[in-house]
Amino acid sequence: MSKHIVSMNLNGRKVEEAVEPRTLLIHFLREKMNLTGAHIGCDTSHCGSCTVDIDGQSVKSCTHLAVQCEGSEVKTVEGLANAGVLHAVQDAFYKEHGLQCGFCTPGMLMRAYRFLQDNPNPTEEQVRIGMAGNLCRCTGYQNIVKAVLLAAKTLQQPQKVAA
Ligand code: FES
Ligand code: FES
Repeated sequence: MSKHIVSMNLNGRKVEEAVEPRTLLIHFLREKMNLTGAHIGCDTSHCGSCTVDIDGQSVKSCTHLAVQCEGSEVKTVEGLANAGVLHAVQDAFYKEHGLQCGFCTPGMLMRAYRFLQDNPNPTEEQVRIGMAGNLCRCTGYQNIVKAVLLAAKTLQQPQKVAA
């Protein structure tokens, strides 16, 4: 199959790569870019473990083609921390123990990141609705919700963690 050159800004770095038109973004990230944070949990757009941020929106990268990212700003979980300082959502998941096996965590972090950009001061109910596209098989969600609420508080304070 003939290849297309796709170029994008990936975690702040311009990348250009030849891909088959059918290449899914999740495969591009994991296999071509060696960014294995985003996980494949279902391949049917249900679980959200593959969630990344594209041009300011949460996107499930298992149902998005790499070529659709031409010229886009793409952020993966690897791009959340800044100069070794955890992002507020990472710090909050750590502090509230918002994970058990960690499989869903990269997608949860990326969704929480975008959700809090869009709604910086959410209620618990809004967090539950905002995170509903991301499934966790282990935690019962309680600590994940607490973590998102803690991150919201942190992001509204003077910066001590990466924003
Ligand atoms: S792997 Fe993409 S939603 Fe499950
Ligand atoms: S922590 Fe195991 S799937 Fe969420």
